[in-house]
Amino acid sequence: PLLSEILNLHDFESIAKLVMPDKAWAYYSSAADDEITIRENHAAYHRIWFRPRILRDVTKVDFSSTILGHKTSMPIYITATALGKLGHPDGELNLTRAAAKHGVIQMIPTLASCSFDELVDAAQPGQVQFLQLYVNKDREITKRIVQHAESRGIKGLFITVDAPQLGRREKDMRQKFEAEDPAEVSKSGSDGVDRTQGAARAISSFIDPGLNWGDLKWFKSITKMPLILKGVQCWEDALEAYDQGMAGVVLSNHGGRQLDFARSGVEVLAECVTHLKEKRGLKFPNEKFQLFVDGGVRRATDVIKAIALGATAVGIGRPFLYSYSAYGQEGVDQALQILRDEFEMNMRLLGAPTIKDVVPEMVDASNLNSH
Ligand code: FNR
Repeated sequence: PLLSEILNLHDFESIAKLVMPDKAWAYYSSAADDEITIRENHAAYHRIWFRPRILRDVTKVDFSSTILGHKTSMPIYITATALGKLGHPDGELNLTRAAAKHGVIQMIPTLASCSFDELVDAAQPGQVQFLQLYVNKDREITKRIVQHAESRGIKGLFITVDAPQLGRREKDMRQKFEAEDPAEVSKSGSDGVDRTQGAARAISSFIDPGLNWGDLKWFKSITKMPLILKGVQCWEDALEAYDQGMAGVVLSNHGGRQLDFARSGVEVLAECVTHLKEKRGLKFPNEKFQLFVDGGVRRATDVIKAIALGATAVGIGRPFLYSYSAYGQEGVDQALQILRDEFEMNMRLLGAPTIKDVVPEMVDASNLNSH
């Protein structure tokens, strides 16, 4: 189909499935075990309903916002997803370019197919990028990556904490991953690995399962970038992250790719807001400690629900992979344009002319467990 016939983010997935190489489709679309969590990620948003307000002047709607103090045209960011070149020869560059065009922030993955410097070099002046970090067993390597990122102007370090071992993604494991094309993984530090069990397992053996709370002080000593833990899944850990001086947490289950039966990010968001309010007196959204959510976000209404519940912004992963795998950068441009159009209309229908007007009273989240 023509790009102009694509009406929503789900459409990109349907088309990508038809046109992508099997290996790439398996890696991008797969999730852990019985794939219950990946379904729940999207389904959880179906349990939240709107309470729109009427007779507010919504002639002009402005859904721009900030993330860690940096401007974004809408409260979303492109989250980190590995191995961008499996889906398209330009890999993550498609995301960098589309992010510039639409004024949104890209999180660069440790396991990008393009090199880190290539992605930073491709950014426009003033374009904000974050880095997702997998922590290497060799802390000298990690230190080098972190300090290099800071010197290149990266504005936030998202340390992935939900992957001490990569989850079992059977759809992916049925494909034999052969990185015969070295371009597929850029310097991942993954020599001597088992290539017989899918892409994920082949690239992940350097990740340190020994990473623990005691390491956070060290991260603070080697960088001034804001530190965010990506993959927090209960309020107890969000509270600990706050107490340890993190700048925020991403409530995420890694797109359902790690622990199957992990709860959805938006469900965890509800309980985090309750407990951080109760135990530390925090109000959300909060400038000093920001809550992010990812997983299963496919519509601006999903984003608006998370914002209403207290999130600063929401990460979106697979839809952008699918859109460039099928249509290159133009696909990502179109996906972002669709989200903008959805934002404009839904904010209007909700009676919220700005993001600040999206308040908890605008949703009925009583079907989420917030305790
Ligand atoms: C991911 N994700 C991920 N996260 C991370 O911290 N480091 C990584 O290298 C990757 N790689 C990766 C590859 C692919 C193909 C996917 C789909 C996901 C997880 C990602 O950042 C995010 O948590 C989820 O993708 C969000 O869910 P949706 O939007 O894909 O449903």
